[in-house]
Parts: sequence; C-alpha cells; structure tokens
Amino acid sequence: MNSYISQLILLCLTITTVQSYTYEPPGRDPISIDKIRSSEQAISLTTENYDELTAGKLVFIKFYAPYCPHCNAMAQAWNELAEYYQSANDDILIGSVDCTDSPHGKTLCMKFKLSGLPTLLYGPTSYDGAYLEEYGGGKSFNELKSFALKELVPKCLPGSLDACTPEQRIQMEKYINMSYKELSQEIEMSEFQLKVAKETFKEKKDELQKYHDKMLIEKEMNVTKCKNAIKMIEGVRDKLKKLESVKTEL
Ligand SMILES: *[C@@H]1O[C@H](CO)[C@@H](O)[C@H](O)[C@H]1NC(C)=O
Ligand SMILES: *[C@@H]1O[C@H](CO)[C@@H](O)[C@H](O)[C@H]1NC(C)=O
Repeated sequence: MNSYISQLILLCLTITTVQSYTYEPPGRDPISIDKIRSSEQAISLTTENYDELTAGKLVFIKFYAPYCPHCNAMAQAWNELAEYYQSANDDILIGSVDCTDSPHGKTLCMKFKLSGLPTLLYGPTSYDGAYLEEYGGGKSFNELKSFALKELVPKCLPGSLDACTPEQRIQMEKYINMSYKELSQEIEMSEFQLKVAKETFKEKKDELQKYHDKMLIEKEMNVTKCKNAIKMIEGVRDKLKKLESVKTEL
C-alpha cells in the first residue's frame, strides 16, 4: 500500500515536472534564449554595427524577441530567407535584431519606434532609415521570398537615387529640394492634370460612342436598302428567266 502511494506521488511529480517544463514560455530561461539567438541565420544587427553593415544596401530586417511566440513561429522561414540571400546578392542584406539584447539590439529597436514584435522593415537605409517601410504580408518562406524578389530591387526612390534614369533623377532632386508647401502645390498640379487627362479621355470616348451609334444606324439602313434591292432584282431576274425559257420552248 505504502509503495503504491509513493509510486503515485512519484508519478504526479513526474507529470508536474514535464508539464511545467512544457508550459515554460520558451526562451524565458537563459539557455533557450541563447539557443534561439544563436540559431538566427540572418546577419545579427546591433546599434554598433548597423550603419556600417547596411550602408548603401537594400535591407529586410526582422526585429524580434526570443521569448515571443509569433517571432519563433517565423524563425525558420526567416532563416531560409537569410540562407537564400547569403550568396545571392551583395546589395541586399537580410538582418535580425534581438530587441531584448540590451543595449546592442534594444537601442536599435527603440530607434525605429516599433509597435510590436516581430516587426519586419524593408527598403533603402539612406536618410537614417526614413524610407524604410513595414512589411505586412505573410510570414512563410515563399511569401517572404516572392516579396523580396519583387521589392528588394533597386528602385528610383528618394532614398535610392542610383536606380533612377537621368530624367527621373533630375525630377526627384527637384522634389527633394522643395518645401512641404511647394510639394503640396506640386501634387495639386499633378492631380489637376490627372483629372484633365481622365476627362479628356471620357469626352473623346463619348464622341466615339456617338459616332459609333450613328454609323451603326447608317449601316443597318444601308444593309436593309441593299437586301431589299437584291430581293427586288432577283424577283425581276426570275421572271425574265421564266420568260426566256418559255421562248426557247416555243
Ligand atoms: C538641390 O539643392 C542642392 C543644394 O541644396 C543643390 O546642389 C542642387 O543643385 C539642387 N538640385 C536641384 C535639382 O535644384
Ligand atoms: C451608307 O450608304 C451611303 C450611300 O451609299 C454611304 O455614303 C455611306 O458611307 C454608307 N454608310 C455605311 C455605314 O455603310
């Protein structure tokens, strides 16, 4: 009896230990934090190395915390993306920032005023990251990869003028030099031109439509006229044929 109870107690203890281990939020203990951190394949960015490593590059950066479940859920996909880009392109950097790594990662996370974790930012890093945008798509490797292939290409943007054609560059530089008010006026002007373009097209289209309708009626009338004429002519011709056959019979 005694041995039965002690076995039961032992069993309960075992279950409790397993349960508390399983339900331990992963990463709360230093060992698994280290494990999660070191399994990151993307380049680890900190406030110390950020400027040097990202200068002139297009980046895709994951800001994460080792204890956050949503971060861990996408860790594998992010590793695959980092591996995919490792040898592919010198102009693109896939990075990870551990926001709990104080002060190295944490300072960087605070600088970008993130609203939650994980946050993914992408784009050119010039102008102190002013043109970085937040990624809002799916977090599977395939979704991340197809987004990166489409978006992480040199584009003519205020933050990456090298990708502009000479004409675009002149235009972009003109805008970069303008004040907020001047830019607003410039937008108003372009919006006016846009309206004119749409209205002109609609006017021309209406004119064409009217012409089309007119031609359609005219055609129908001509067709009817021709059909009637053919009918009349055939009638006369048949009569003539009959008369001619009568003549030859005679
Ligand atoms: C913009 O301003 C800079 C200096 O403020 C000047 O060097 C440059 O020529 C200007 N560009 C244009 C297109 O006006
Ligand atoms: C209809 O017939 C008139 C007279 O033959 C011709 O001038 C006109 O082009 C025709 N229009 C169409 C749409 O067929």
